[in-house]
Amino acid sequence: MCGIVAYIGEKEAFKVLIKGLKRLEYRGYDSAGIALINNKETNIYKCQGKVSDLENMVKDLDISGNIGMGHTRWATHGEPSDKNAHPHESMNKYFTIIHNGIIENYSKLRKSLEKENYKFTSETDTEVLANLIEYVYLKAKKEKKTISAREAVRTALNSVNGAYGLVISCKDFPEKIIAARKGSPLVIGISNNEYFIASDASPIIEYTNSVIYLNDDDIAVIGKNGLNLKNIKNIIKTPHIQKIDLKLDEIEKNGYEHYMLKEIYEQPRAISDTYRGRLNYESKFLRLGGLHNVFKNLKDAKKIIIVACGTSWHAGLVGEYLFEDFTRIPTEVEYASEFRYRKPIINKGDIVIAISQSGETADTLAAIRMAKKLGAIVIGVCNVVGSSIPRETFAGVYTHAGPEIGVASTKAFTTQITVLTMMAMSVGLANKTLSKEQFNSLVEELYLIPKKITQILKKAEQIQKIAHIIKDSTNSLYLGRGYLFPVALEGALKLKEISYIHAEGYPAAEMKHGPIALIDEKMPVIVLATKDKSYEKIISNIEEVKARKGIIIAIVTEGDESIKKIADHIIEIPYTDFSLAPLLTVIPLQLLSYYIAVMRGCNVDQPRNLAKSVTVE
Ligand code: G6P
Repeated sequence: MCGIVAYIGEKEAFKVLIKGLKRLEYRGYDSAGIALINNKETNIYKCQGKVSDLENMVKDLDISGNIGMGHTRWATHGEPSDKNAHPHESMNKYFTIIHNGIIENYSKLRKSLEKENYKFTSETDTEVLANLIEYVYLKAKKEKKTISAREAVRTALNSVNGAYGLVISCKDFPEKIIAARKGSPLVIGISNNEYFIASDASPIIEYTNSVIYLNDDDIAVIGKNGLNLKNIKNIIKTPHIQKIDLKLDEIEKNGYEHYMLKEIYEQPRAISDTYRGRLNYESKFLRLGGLHNVFKNLKDAKKIIIVACGTSWHAGLVGEYLFEDFTRIPTEVEYASEFRYRKPIINKGDIVIAISQSGETADTLAAIRMAKKLGAIVIGVCNVVGSSIPRETFAGVYTHAGPEIGVASTKAFTTQITVLTMMAMSVGLANKTLSKEQFNSLVEELYLIPKKITQILKKAEQIQKIAHIIKDSTNSLYLGRGYLFPVALEGALKLKEISYIHAEGYPAAEMKHGPIALIDEKMPVIVLATKDKSYEKIISNIEEVKARKGIIIAIVTEGDESIKKIADHIIEIPYTDFSLAPLLTVIPLQLLSYYIAVMRGCNVDQPRNLAKSVTVE
């Protein structure tokens, strides 16, 4: 979703902004723009398309200035176009603004501003906000009242419903910029006499690792020599400066053609990082420090509700199997967006687990707030340290996957499952629903997972060949049973996200209730058929596909002879305990979609219409 970067200091702002916007490209966007502030003059350049288009556009133009703001827009109100791109100016050019989020009552505000003779040049909610701020400001001036730019912003924001991360400049105070947050994250990087403002830390870390995360309702006024923080009620706040532990090479491609490929290959390391310091192979000791305060509640829970969106929801589905198997605690998995608009039943002692890579997904955040209001204890499973979800949950476990830049989530999924496995194992052991022998054997198996993933990654060439065979398909079906049903859903999601081939994931046994009608000799059917208790049943499902001439690609356990005879293509993977099989079976599916998307010439890291961090509801 929209990316924000702003700078104030001694450097040429243009360079910082363009570099920052490129670092934010991964979030998904359709247009880009910058504003450069040079004393009383503000130059705004913006266009539909990529940051590189913006760079070309400004080649011979004035790009001077040590203060500026840049934005990548993911369209919500109004189509992607030059005029809807940010920054937006207020009608009389007093205020320049970039915005991430949605102003829900923008239409009403726009009508009342139109009555005050305000004219609009775009269809955006952001321009409405710019004009509202200006209206407040000029009205006060007309009435000969003293008003600061901050006060105008604060007053305007008090009449706004919705979410925002904002950077604003006012031509009467060209040495300052204002940053305000409600619902959409903003981070301020602090260096020597310079400040960087961004929607996440990636544009900041090459300059400084000292940051302030703005909280909801914060309004900061930033000049070269200082930052002044108040909240929307005008109460002075003390900025809390934190050190972030993010390295530049973690957000660069490091020789890989795409971030997605790099992140697929990072999974052995990422999973080891997830259990490092928490799980000990020798002593078979497992402790999740972040759950310390709530462990007893988790252990005694009557019900667990997992809320998430997208790939994180698929990890949640695997979590449902894990919790029910290991802990015998009834577990439900909900799309965060559905959970929050229903009347969910939460009783005393119920636990809500919110899973999110970014820690910023608007629906997941809203679900957490609702669950908290209803009295649930909410636990977060997140990747981005310091993001909103960990800050709003009672307790939680970080996945430590490292930055995930590719829009199609890969290492976030496997590390989320690793966390859920460890959570279920520790509760199961404490509740004696998992025996010590089972627990010990799971510890051993979990330790072997990174090594086994490395073995699967060596099959990339074989997977590439299969990708070549099915790259021109228009439809595909992914089938799995038990723990592998969520993996089928995830495999289908990966393919449709990045290659735009229609893909459906189904529980294998349900195939006969509908999707079987689609099967013909052009239909690739990807079957997750590793050895577990439903192995015989899945063979029957494969036969059913075969009888209808579907192209069968089966993911099987090494040494499998039976499926080899029926399937068109097999990908062998090492054996693991069936409860850990999602961690291995998903790897060939990630690679398969990656290669298909590359062969089809798709933009793998930034698929059309998608965003990495979905900060609108
Ligand atoms: C977007 C991303 C997905 C992600 C989902 C949930 O749709 O493109 O990859 O799974 O949001 O995001 P979260 O950060 O909450 O895991």
